Amino acid sequence: MDINFANKVVLITGASSGIGETSAILFSKYDAKLVLVGRNETNLLNVANRCEKERGLKPLAIVADLSTDEGCERTVKATLEHFGRLDVLVNNAAIGGPEGIENATMEKFDKLFNNNLRSVYNLTRLLVPAIIESKGNIINISSLAGIAVAANNLPYGMAKAALTFFTRVTSVELAPKGVRVNTICPGITATNFRPRMTGQTAPEYQEWLKVAEQTIPMRKACEAGDIANMVVFVASDNCKLVTGTTINVDGGMQFGDVYGFLRDKSDKSDKTDKSNKSDKKDKSDNTDNSNNSDKLDNSDNSDKLDNSDNSDKSNNSDKLDNSDNSDNSDKSDKSDNSDNSDISDKLDKSDNSDKSEKLGHL
Ligand SMILES: NC(=O)c1ccc[n+]([C@@H]2O[C@H](COP(=O)([O-])OP(=O)(O)OC[C@H]3O[C@@H](n4cnc5c(N)ncnc54)[C@H](OP(=O)(O)O)[C@@H]3O)[C@@H](O)[C@H]2O)c1
Repeated sequence: MDINFANKVVLITGASSGIGETSAILFSKYDAKLVLVGRNETNLLNVANRCEKERGLKPLAIVADLSTDEGCERTVKATLEHFGRLDVLVNNAAIGGPEGIENATMEKFDKLFNNNLRSVYNLTRLLVPAIIESKGNIINISSLAGIAVAANNLPYGMAKAALTFFTRVTSVELAPKGVRVNTICPGITATNFRPRMTGQTAPEYQEWLKVAEQTIPMRKACEAGDIANMVVFVASDNCKLVTGTTINVDGGMQFGDVYGFLRDKSDKSDKTDKSNKSDKKDKSDNTDNSNNSDKLDNSDNSDKLDNSDNSDKSNNSDKLDNSDNSDNSDKSDKSDNSDNSDISDKLDKSDNSDKSEKLGHL
């Protein structure tokens, strides 16, 4: 099977980190000319340099906030002025939002929808004429959170579900013009996404991942490369009749024990939890949520990143990348033998209820 993006222009949003970063490097291995968009200039330029080293093709790096009209318009203008065409658009940039109906204010709702949905609509709308001209394709990175139901993930899950619908409708609108549109839904993927949403340190995140992996049928979280492989494959001519689809890359998580593990344990209708800890959980949930919300609200994520020591961040991703998967799978294998109630018990007894209760924030 041949994958070749020579003379094709690929625009990836959120290319400064995680799935977008890894996709950018993979596309460059297949000779794509790249437009990389993100907010953190240092990280973005670092990724651009690494892409250039693959095949000597210098990406166009655009620092832009795609939640603004200005950011989208400038991205489109710079792309078309620089390369004169666009073949593949990967709408990948997004932020998390661990809130539900009781604490997602309109401000938080608007911020999430502007970042994760309006930006995609706006950028796609502006680039569609160029994609029709090249008979190219669009890939929207959604989430299992737009399919599975998990409490306290409401605006995020709604925006991701809408993104999948956006794919379906635009695929039908654009198919007669030779343009394909697809959604890829990652399950839990080891990137900076969750740590930056929750403020977890790398070791805390690794610990959380180990617990989370017990909820995944394949007993393994995705790595950014697992998603990037699918992005590049679907974008390639090997998939010339694949359109309007939603492709999960999630280790089977959509059929995992969603109701057993991804539920919000503060649900008062849970009569099985008779111990005092249900009270504690309710309190800790509220605190956790408000803590998380505070972290999200009071800090502009981009500021946090911009001001953060870049080497720290790369350390962080190094730690994620270098995490010993065989170790994890060893442990997972062991956990395979335990039945679900065992795992439930472990989660229930763990001091840090936060770790077991917010698995749904994909
Ligand atoms: N990681 C998971 O477990 C998981 C699971 C399911 C779905 N997903 C989805 O996968 C995609 C990639 O996430 P990731 O895990 O790679 O997360 P990540 O490491 O946090 O990367 C997110 C990227 O989006 C960019 N971004 C966010 N808002 C932006 C804006 N307004 N304008 C421009 N760029 C913006 C960020 O840019 P800066 O860093 O430069 O600010 C960053 O490059 C997202 O759509 C996410 O919802 C992730």
